[in-house]
Amino acid sequence: MNMSQTDQKRAAAEAAVEYVEVGDVIGVGTGSTADFFIEFLAGIRGKLDGAVASSDASAAQLRKLGIPLLDLNQVGTLPLYVDGTDEATRNRHLIKGGGGALTREKIVAEASEKFVCIADQGKLVDRLGTFPLPIEVLEMARSMVARKLARMGGQPILRDGFVTDNGHPILDIRGMDIMNPLELERQMNQIPGVVTVGLFALRPADLLLIGTESGVDII
Ligand code: 5RP
Repeated sequence: MNMSQTDQKRAAAEAAVEYVEVGDVIGVGTGSTADFFIEFLAGIRGKLDGAVASSDASAAQLRKLGIPLLDLNQVGTLPLYVDGTDEATRNRHLIKGGGGALTREKIVAEASEKFVCIADQGKLVDRLGTFPLPIEVLEMARSMVARKLARMGGQPILRDGFVTDNGHPILDIRGMDIMNPLELERQMNQIPGVVTVGLFALRPADLLLIGTESGVDII
């Protein structure tokens, strides 16, 4: 069997449907892998009481399927959050935010009991950092934050012509040494003007479902 990257994303997304239980309100992520998951939700629509979306784009997809959209403030802890990733290690630390939805993704992950991360096998890495690390910043702080990140060893680039659903710019950081993701996330969180760092180590995924050539690996 020759599984393309797209097939692997689809297989991982399908495997995540198993984690949805009757009456759940779940968190739903953003990106092409999360879009496959949303498509699969159409088949189990009746099981769900609703969903909290991590982006306007995913909210629109869910709305199309007739899945009730809820505001996170209306619901308590979510039993499940399903989302993709840009990179993942075997200890379930992630880099997210390639699609720019990192802030809402981090909020929904934090509000969830179980974070199931779905990805193709190309996302699995030994060490984070080949994918540029996205950081959402307040507009007035972007140059100051960029200078600080450069002093920390990264090469920040402003994501051209892009603002998040929250109206903020993103800096993509190349070349950052992510030897200790927990410490780096803590350190970057302290910089005034940083809204969200796309490192998900303090709240990692609970489970990785990785689509491979031979099926879906669970980590
Ligand atoms: C969006 C994300 C996505 O999960 C990440 O970019 C992966 O996207 P895809 O599933 O399209 O490969 O973090 O902010």
